[in-house]
Amino acid sequence: MDAMTALYSRRSIRLYTPKQVPSNVVSDILRAAMCAPSAGNERPWHFLVLTNRMLLDEIPKIHPYAAMLKQANTAILVCGDSTLEKYKGYWPLDCAAATQNLLIAAHAKGLGAVWCGVYPSDDRVVNLKKLLNLPENIVPFSLIPLGFPDEVKEALERFDNSRVHENHW
Ligand SMILES: Cc1cc2nc3c(=O)[nH]c(=O)nc-3n(C[C@H](O)[C@H](O)[C@H](O)COP(=O)(O)O)c2cc1C
Repeated sequence: MDAMTALYSRRSIRLYTPKQVPSNVVSDILRAAMCAPSAGNERPWHFLVLTNRMLLDEIPKIHPYAAMLKQANTAILVCGDSTLEKYKGYWPLDCAAATQNLLIAAHAKGLGAVWCGVYPSDDRVVNLKKLLNLPENIVPFSLIPLGFPDEVKEALERFDNSRVHENHW
């Protein structure tokens, strides 16, 4: 799948078949995530691959919009590391770029995925840190369930010329 096709056709997929996501595909997706641009090339991210059924089932209890994790056999938690931050305040932007790369790569590999927001919701951050025993300097940023899609969503046309400006507003 070429880049433009992937960008135009990506949708949030929240239903998955039971088929296991192969670990080599997870590696490819993580490699794509780590290709993301970051401020001063700080790359302040870590990726926690979740495959433990008990942990996946616990997350919807502390995240109100992550019920799809009960069906997913794999999820990736994108985390920021404050000790790797060179430019103050940029780590969430870097992690957002990595998250978007991850979503596009998953789609290009035939998987379904959805960005479940974590940061800056304090209770989601605190509860995920507790559940997954994350060190003090690690902040969970986004949670991405992955699976073979069990729903089909059409590509949407979202181009809005009223949001495009040239030179002066
Ligand atoms: C920062 C952010 C947080 C989101 N959080 C959730 C979430 O917690 N649960 C969920 O099901 N979808 C979540 N989404 C997915 C959006 O609902 C989805 O991207 C949007 O409705 C557009 O649909 P599409 O992704 O199919 O184009 C989130 C998306 C972003 C960018």
